[in-house]
Amino acid sequence: MKIQVVRATMPYNPKIGTPITALDTPSMVVDLSLMESNIDKLFSHLLTTGIRIRPHLKTTKSVALARKLVAAGATGGCVAKLSEAEVFTDQGFTDLLITTVVVGKVKVGRLVELWKRNREVRIVVDSEAGIRGIEEGMKEAGVQEGKIMTLLDLDVGLHRTGCQPGEEALRLARLVRQSGYLELIGVQGYEGHLQHVHSKSERRERCLEAMSILTKTAEALREDGHAIRVVTTGGTGTAEFCVTVPGVTEVQPGSFLFMDTDYRNAVGTHYSNSLTILATVISKQGPKCVTIDAGLKSLTTDSGLAECKTPGYTYGVLGDEHGSLSWTDAPDLEIGDRVEMIPSHIDPTINLHDSYYAHRDGIVEEIWSVDARGKVQ
Ligand SMILES: Cc1ncc(COP(=O)(O)O)c(C=O)c1O
Repeated sequence: MKIQVVRATMPYNPKIGTPITALDTPSMVVDLSLMESNIDKLFSHLLTTGIRIRPHLKTTKSVALARKLVAAGATGGCVAKLSEAEVFTDQGFTDLLITTVVVGKVKVGRLVELWKRNREVRIVVDSEAGIRGIEEGMKEAGVQEGKIMTLLDLDVGLHRTGCQPGEEALRLARLVRQSGYLELIGVQGYEGHLQHVHSKSERRERCLEAMSILTKTAEALREDGHAIRVVTTGGTGTAEFCVTVPGVTEVQPGSFLFMDTDYRNAVGTHYSNSLTILATVISKQGPKCVTIDAGLKSLTTDSGLAECKTPGYTYGVLGDEHGSLSWTDAPDLEIGDRVEMIPSHIDPTINLHDSYYAHRDGIVEEIWSVDARGKVQ
């Protein structure tokens, strides 16, 4: 028998108006007032500079949240993966930049199909092989008219993707110009290696160096006859510096919405930790040690361990489904007590959950789906 796998529907569907104290756990909860304040802080400052904000939606993977950001003044959004772009497009959110190069026959085939139904989608390229692959895909699909809006991805120091500035960038830009299928509209240079630099002055200085590479490359491409109208860059830790650089047109912050302990430890508390994982104490393992129902499948550990929102308790991982909380002189926790855990790394933690329960003063006001959960292709 052939089995068609579909996402299971959940028998548990809490309603708007439910107090968060009545939610089952683990649950991903968002403090709306804190999140709105984060949006306000970022947008009220950055929008006055005239630079566009294209928030990175890889953090939230949520169409509802993308729409909130556009209502606040964002210009579309970024996604990291083609499959995320497919999900957002299918829900009518179409102004998207896919910030990762699209490589491989299967993925290019999907890109061409996506582009046929969403001509607003923008892509990045960083190699001749990548450019040729997309051209072949477009040709094989019999595309007769229209070009995919394309940005040259530049390595400004992260050494993850991106071509080298100088001759390499000029050569690839010329290849795009010769292409019947791609239209070069700009350059992307993401300085991801600088987002978590703890010293603000060092972060700023190194960011300005990276921005100099990016804007000088954009200028060199213009001198070579390319109509570069988009220069996109920046994240939560650097956007405030990027917007001061003439020539930058767009920034891509994502984590500012919710933050996490790793980001907070690096850049401070200007943006609040607005998202927590609600958990329940399910067992007592000593006079000052309990087990909670949130382990590796609820909270990621790649950037250190999550923190209990209430100070005085130390979290430990007890496995996939379990974690420990221990303390020395905080109030005792008992079975059935509930705690809120602040994730150490927000993006992969969100990808572990189906829904956000957004509350104001403890009452669930909105429920959003993690629409692109698991969309890593
Ligand atoms: C290309 C790109 N732009 C922007 C961001 C957003 O950065 P942050 O979440 O630090 O704001 C990321 C995050 O990894 C990214 O990969």
